[in-house]
Amino acid sequence: MIRRYVFGNPIETEAVLRKPKAEQWEGDEQVLAFEANQTGFTCKLEQEDIVYGLGENVRGINKRGWIYVSHCSDNPNHQEDTRSLYGAHNFLIVSGKRNLGIFVDTPEQVIFDVGYTRPELLSVSMDSGNYELYLIEEASAEAVVQEFRRLIGQSYLPPKWAFGYGQSRWSYRTSEEVRQVARRFRENHLPLDMIYLDIDYMERYKDFTIDRERFPDFELLVEELKEQKIHLVPIIDGGVKVEAGYDVYEEGVKNGYFCKDEDGENFTLGVWPGKCHYPDMLNDEARLWFGRKYRFLLDKGIDGFWNDMNEPAIFYSEKHLKKVFEQLEEYRGQNLDICSFFEFCGLVQGISNNEEDYRSFYHNYRGERIRHDRVHNLFGYYMTRSASEAFEELEPGRRILLFSRASYIGMHRYGGIWMGDNKSWWSHLKMNLQMLPSLNMCGFLYTGADLGGFGSDATRDLVLRWTALGIFMPLLRNHSADGTRRQEPYAFGKGTEDFRGLIGLRYRLLPYLYSEFMKAALKNGMYARPLGFVWPEDPVARHTEDQLLIGESIMIAPVCEQNAIGRSVYLPEEMKLLRFRGTELTEERVLMRGLHFIETALDEVTIYLWKDHALPLAAGGETVEAVDWRKLALLRFGEAAAYELYDDDGMDSGVKLEGHLFPVQS
Ligand code: GLC
Repeated sequence: MIRRYVFGNPIETEAVLRKPKAEQWEGDEQVLAFEANQTGFTCKLEQEDIVYGLGENVRGINKRGWIYVSHCSDNPNHQEDTRSLYGAHNFLIVSGKRNLGIFVDTPEQVIFDVGYTRPELLSVSMDSGNYELYLIEEASAEAVVQEFRRLIGQSYLPPKWAFGYGQSRWSYRTSEEVRQVARRFRENHLPLDMIYLDIDYMERYKDFTIDRERFPDFELLVEELKEQKIHLVPIIDGGVKVEAGYDVYEEGVKNGYFCKDEDGENFTLGVWPGKCHYPDMLNDEARLWFGRKYRFLLDKGIDGFWNDMNEPAIFYSEKHLKKVFEQLEEYRGQNLDICSFFEFCGLVQGISNNEEDYRSFYHNYRGERIRHDRVHNLFGYYMTRSASEAFEELEPGRRILLFSRASYIGMHRYGGIWMGDNKSWWSHLKMNLQMLPSLNMCGFLYTGADLGGFGSDATRDLVLRWTALGIFMPLLRNHSADGTRRQEPYAFGKGTEDFRGLIGLRYRLLPYLYSEFMKAALKNGMYARPLGFVWPEDPVARHTEDQLLIGESIMIAPVCEQNAIGRSVYLPEEMKLLRFRGTELTEERVLMRGLHFIETALDEVTIYLWKDHALPLAAGGETVEAVDWRKLALLRFGEAAAYELYDDDGMDSGVKLEGHLFPVQS
């Protein structure tokens, strides 16, 4: 059952497509132990309650015990105590004796205190108290998700080729370097479907330009790679460089499409190219204009994009920077003591993503001038919407790969997300696993983390273990930051056989993974579920934080620790262990319910098949296109186990389940 309440005068986010009629809030203390008013609400948590959801955030699948702030933030240095990441996903589920879904729909900052201040209390608050509240009560957490997802509409469908392996780096700086990456993959028979272009393909970091010195033959490069079935996927940044004569800048200025400061001037801030303006993605006309700019690259044969810096990130604002320079002057010649030294440092450290800056510019949203902080969490969402709506106009009915860094619920209809800048840390490998189901609950199905870690130096064993998890992520992309150690599969100088095997297994699993992804998208279901969704009565399963159910047939339990020879795996019921050394199945063994220590070498993956379920396996391939979807082996646990496969042409954006489900014969 869904109930909707409106408090104050909320700003429309267009997150919910089908709004039920709003009810009058009359208090719900009896049934839900829930109290709400215009500044927020509280909900009593029982000892046994798990709190699921909140999408992209630090910590576990169970969000209890921390405080999270929904505020899209560019924070590449996030750790366990970070409160905001790149996305703002205000949906959670209190799951225990009752299953209560809560969605707080407002584009402003929201604070979710999930038993941090008082362990028995979920307390949600925001500044203005203008919000829509949705309460969804169902018999199970999974049913809550399904109801919620019905409200917010179908998740984005990427093209089938986007389920292949993608190689990225900030940056492959020239056509030649890109060709070399392709060559190294093909020479080593490492499967590959995408190479990503980071900011250096552009001319001085200007959106919708190409640096012709580094990429003189861009169009030819796209074509050559296409012949090898490799898609080139360029980045698009939110900020437009201020530069006389640059068409995007000139048009934006002429038509008033940029965000304005208090005085009605174009708001100037610094990002990669130096001084920039942000297009007013919330303004319908500006959004349409910006989206149509993607045509520049579509016309060159590009069919995938990643949208970045759209929290929006602000390295500095012109005005604030000026002030800081003046203030710094005051410290010259001073004896910097304990206080003044830290004040001095704080001045510089506080320049980026400064809250004052977010309060100093304006949008024209639905005909109204609105200060940015009131709609902050919509920016990345509307940037991605801008591209997606333009694709629908320019290439109707065709799936284009699109994912974003910042997001809000509602954006899940227009694109996927990657999980932002992470680090080459074992803790971030585990967090990648934990974020996946939380994001699925919020509608984000096409997602994955920078495999191997973006910042800091990776080690070979970390990248291997991360690949062994990554092959189950819908978005599978190895990406790393400028200045860090190279982490392509061939970069560690030790042969590539183990990487070939792990990535190769992804291609053997593709028909299953794609089928399960599409079923989840078309049925508003979960692609990756926490164990507690299926075995809510089993306390161990409910509290298992490092295993996931992927689709209807399998469970995974990746190794997330350095130097581990394996790990303990909890089986809530009897399952069949499938051990793969690379692409080869080397062991099938039925294991009893309970805890098992399962040794897993760096080049191995273990999968746990449910009783009376089956897993289809293809022969594999080096590209998605090379995988033969018709020749599938069926691994069964139980004689009668069967599998119904979803398949389609991988390109049509309007597909339905009907007509695309096939029994697998084997
Ligand atoms: C941001 C992105 C990262 C990219 C870098 C340079 O940090 O999150 O993925 O490599 O910018 O464009």
